[in-house]
Amino acid sequence: MPGLLLGDEAPNFEAETTQGRIRFHDFLGDSWGILFSHPRDFTPVCTTELGRAAKLATEFSKRNVKMIALSIDSVQDHLSWSKDINAYNGEQPEEKLPFPIIADANRELAVKLGMLDPDERDKDGMPLTARVVFVFGPDKKLKLSILYPATTGRNFDEILRVVDSLQLTAYKKVATPVDWKPGDSVMVVPTLPDEEAKKLFPKGVFTKDLPSGKKYLRYTPQPE
Ligand code: BEZ
Repeated sequence: MPGLLLGDEAPNFEAETTQGRIRFHDFLGDSWGILFSHPRDFTPVCTTELGRAAKLATEFSKRNVKMIALSIDSVQDHLSWSKDINAYNGEQPEEKLPFPIIADANRELAVKLGMLDPDERDKDGMPLTARVVFVFGPDKKLKLSILYPATTGRNFDEILRVVDSLQLTAYKKVATPVDWKPGDSVMVVPTLPDEEAKKLFPKGVFTKDLPSGKKYLRYTPQPE
């Protein structure tokens, strides 16, 4: 079955992009990576999304996350569309964006990665790409997958928030609760015994009493 599941290794595909030919594993190097797909060049929602992604590029870079987009048009179309995206952002209409866009004109990669949206088709009846977000860790394994239909634009602030959670929880034995933001308290993971939690989290572990009497809501200030 095409597509990627959490924990799967990123396929080491080769592709033409707006910044030259890449091999995906070499592109990722030892960094985290985000691959986000788009239905088509020169479409309104995609233009707003790529504009926002470009504005947030320094935030992703601060977090050591390499960005790469995908759309099912040619490199030449991507470069021409990039001018529109920069103009939408109120900047010079140049071809350069702070991340490459993969040209998947024959949809080979979109099929392999399970990115097609069966409900949205082009004028020839061919399915368009959905709005997929894949976040890969430095081990090149898939840490997060979000799938939106073509008609719903993503929230890139949420994607950054998720990256913060993924990176924190990759290195500390914590989980982030509902609506968590960086700096908020986090939850101690359920598998960690109380005695170990006390040692691991010197800022303290605070439990909320519940009718069941079970002490599973264990908070601690966000560890450094
Ligand atoms: C858009 O990016 O605006 C879009 C693309 C395909 C279907 C619907 C909207």
